[in-house]
Amino acid sequence: MTDDVRTETGAIENLLREERTFPPPASFVADALLSDRDILARTASEEGFRAFWTEEGNRLDWMEPWSELYSWEVPYAKWFIGGKLNVSVNCLDRHVAAGLGDRVAYFWEGEPGDSRTITYAELLDEVCRFTNALRSLGVRKGDRVAIYMPMIPELPVAMLACARIGAPHSVVFGGFSADALAGRIEDAACTVVITADGGYRKGASVPLKRNADEAIARTTSVEHCVVVRRTGEEVHWYPDRDHWYHDLVAGQPAVADPEPMDSEDLLYLLYTSGTTARPKGIMHTTAGYLVGVASTHRYIFDLHPETDVYWCMADIGWVTGHSYIVYGPLANATSGIIYEGAIDFPDRDRWAQIAAKYRATILYTAPTAIRALMKYGHTEFERDDLSSLRLLGSVGEPINPEAWAWYWKYIGGERCPVVDTWWQTETGMIMISPLPGITTLKPGSATFPFPGVIADVLDEAGNSVSLGQGGYLVLDRPWPAMLRGIYGDPERYQQTYWSRYPGRYFPGDGCKRDDDGYYWLLGRVDDVMNVSGHRISTTEVESALVAHAAVAEAAVVGRSDPLTGQAIFSYVILRSGHEPSDALAGELREHVAEMIGKFARPKQIMFTPDLPKTRSGKIMRRLLRDIAEQRDLGDVTTLADAGVVNTIREQSGTAEE
Ligand code: WTA
Repeated sequence: MTDDVRTETGAIENLLREERTFPPPASFVADALLSDRDILARTASEEGFRAFWTEEGNRLDWMEPWSELYSWEVPYAKWFIGGKLNVSVNCLDRHVAAGLGDRVAYFWEGEPGDSRTITYAELLDEVCRFTNALRSLGVRKGDRVAIYMPMIPELPVAMLACARIGAPHSVVFGGFSADALAGRIEDAACTVVITADGGYRKGASVPLKRNADEAIARTTSVEHCVVVRRTGEEVHWYPDRDHWYHDLVAGQPAVADPEPMDSEDLLYLLYTSGTTARPKGIMHTTAGYLVGVASTHRYIFDLHPETDVYWCMADIGWVTGHSYIVYGPLANATSGIIYEGAIDFPDRDRWAQIAAKYRATILYTAPTAIRALMKYGHTEFERDDLSSLRLLGSVGEPINPEAWAWYWKYIGGERCPVVDTWWQTETGMIMISPLPGITTLKPGSATFPFPGVIADVLDEAGNSVSLGQGGYLVLDRPWPAMLRGIYGDPERYQQTYWSRYPGRYFPGDGCKRDDDGYYWLLGRVDDVMNVSGHRISTTEVESALVAHAAVAEAAVVGRSDPLTGQAIFSYVILRSGHEPSDALAGELREHVAEMIGKFARPKQIMFTPDLPKTRSGKIMRRLLRDIAEQRDLGDVTTLADAGVVNTIREQSGTAEE
């Protein structure tokens, strides 16, 4: 530990010891969009709730007005019933029509140092050209389009062009492997894949086209592959199927009719990990989603679009990027930053250089990133002028109070409210978060549900627990951006979210409410891990491991990690004829990276002769978690062979990355 970092730790400890709370600074309240403390109480009633979302819905441009705000037949909601609109029109055309064509939509920064500034008028032109290009390939309303791209401007262009046509997109994060991409293409029977030759990551290139080729070869639905030239690397070319993006858009007119979409038409699919090996295609529809993300983006980030420069550091391939880089911000005519690469590459303060260059006012990132910067220490970015910042956000995993306080003190300069936002791919929009002009903050707490959201914390039996107690989080009232189902699997939708507590939405998170009613999110309570803010299912990693010839059985658990929140811990039983070794552990790790993606590579592999199972043969994950955490083991009498635990504990054959 360097002296700087030691001083920082001391300062943070002092800050937390005081149990300080952080009311909104008076200067912030003066200009805040929301400073009326009654809003939460007002929107708790059905009438106030309806009034709130009616007003939010009326901010959009409708091709045909809606007639009914919402309907609710558990577990299916519809919002803005009867309305017609187009998402790309609401994100682009209406701003240009309002005279905002010259406003910057995105300041884009490439990892190698190239940059582009794109105004709303330019973005609209580009989206129309690409809309025409996709139509020339035969893409029509309802066709599914897979997008597998780096963080370059063509990514939001592709999403918006799909939205303009009414062709639901399925964006697959560029860190996923060919195998994972193939599964997602297959599940939705995508007819087109949009990708790039490669993407930059820490100076190296990610071979996206090569992965896409492999994935397409394993599927049957794809007719066309559109390729953006980014790195200039050599790629295989299939002339009947492949098209360069720049060739396709050349000569296309910069006008394209937007498809009038029903409020409940599918806008996109986004796959996320559940408790089985098969990812779920989360369905988001048109109007409710757009209203939900625009409204939360406005109020939670206290957005002043004329003056703010907003930077969400997530990847567009995850839901945070969909809702809070693309749809919410563009609907609000925001000027945003998109950065292609790793925030600490090539310099540890690369992110701060970018924030200073564009005078960013709002920063939205994940606790893992904050902890990584915290490890470097604040002197790393002392030379960068961050005085433009006025608000900070956190998302993706619980933020520990130390990281919160460090973020507030060293990045926010003790003047910026920190909004810790809890939500999920499924919720589409932020559900629990401070309102920065109203809420008094406590480091580590996401504070209170958003206006109109009703949450509760339950015990096993479904009773609401009293203040000061922990339990399972549930949500009790439909919200506009909520998922409409799992693609092709209504049964699983019902089962996963609505059956644990019948009729109530169960997100799979533990939560505690303190004596003041503040919500403290405690992490997943199911077999889903959260590594660096990425959701990974234990069973998905297990099936990747057992697909390796040397592996007979595998059990995977998440273990707490000071940097990444959780880390992947795997127990592996080898087939006879295979011996534990560091080399084999390395091979297994690579194997998982190939099957899922590098971010899912287990941190630790423990070779074991056996696994603890109940008499019915179920692996006792809780026990394995406790062993991984080296916690007290509790009652193990249901074990088929209690000796197994001791064997595992005494095992020394673990290999750590
Ligand atoms: C976790 C990311 C604590 C949670 C937007 C949730 C959080 C899962 C927070 C969803 C937060 C997200 N505090 N935990 N502020 N935000 N989570 O679908 O466990 O990638 O269920 O969506 O991340 O992950 P997803």
